[in-house]
Amino acid sequence: MNTCRFLRILFLGDIVGAPGRRVVGKFLELFKDNFDLIIANAENTAHGFGLTQKNLDELKSFGISVFSGGNHTFDRKEIFNFIDNEPYVLRPANYPPSTPGRGYTVIEVKGYKIGIINILGRVFMEPLESPFLVADNLVETLKNDSDFIILDIHAEATAEKMALANYLDGRVAAIVGSHTHVQTADERLLPNGTGYITDMGCCAAYNSVIGMALPGVLNRMVKQLPSKFEIAEGVAQMCGVEITIDTSSKTCTAVKRVRFNEANLDEDTAYYLNYFKQS
Ligand SMILES: [Fe+2]
Ligand SMILES: [Fe+2]
Repeated sequence: MNTCRFLRILFLGDIVGAPGRRVVGKFLELFKDNFDLIIANAENTAHGFGLTQKNLDELKSFGISVFSGGNHTFDRKEIFNFIDNEPYVLRPANYPPSTPGRGYTVIEVKGYKIGIINILGRVFMEPLESPFLVADNLVETLKNDSDFIILDIHAEATAEKMALANYLDGRVAAIVGSHTHVQTADERLLPNGTGYITDMGCCAAYNSVIGMALPGVLNRMVKQLPSKFEIAEGVAQMCGVEITIDTSSKTCTAVKRVRFNEANLDEDTAYYLNYFKQS
């Protein structure tokens, strides 16, 4: 039964290791009931690389229902034990057809069927199938199976994300970017109504380089030496977007950036308590 006028969807950027999971847990413990659906990019959940069953169970317990992926989805071998049995765990749809898992899903929320697609960019990334042509096919496939579509474009290049968003403008409700781990300030509605942000940012240690500790990063970048990236510890920040969908028109009415930082826990908590009280 379709009863509600607006759906509020929280989409979180890449969750990086324990600090990322912790800050997401803190935010959702307080505010999860304000959202009709919570989606997160989970490619870096397991100490920065991949996703384990334990991580997945923990994130589900926080209230997250759908998990998108990216170039790190298969970093942990154990994902092959469960990905085919998890209807709401995605890997990029433009991997070869024989790749385990799925690139899209449909979840029913308050009587509305929401199609969710995960696609990997190709610029400075793996040479997968064209994100544009794969998106064309999936939008066509989901047209009859869903009320509206949200797409996570996991890509390095801002131009590629913007090009895909404009290519699909009016055909999907919202396109959100992930992978660079740095939130962009360009959230908007495109001319034909699709909600868009180039990158949602990440949920990770705040004093870090995209969630990784400085010594390993600098060893590689300054000295040009091989070096293992380790998760950064310390206070963490959660980044994502709130997507509002008008259920009568099946279109996006707003994309708003969400940021919640343990370094400003009291202020950020007060801000969101007030925000949800007023909206
Ligand atoms: Fe990532
Ligand atoms: Fe990535």
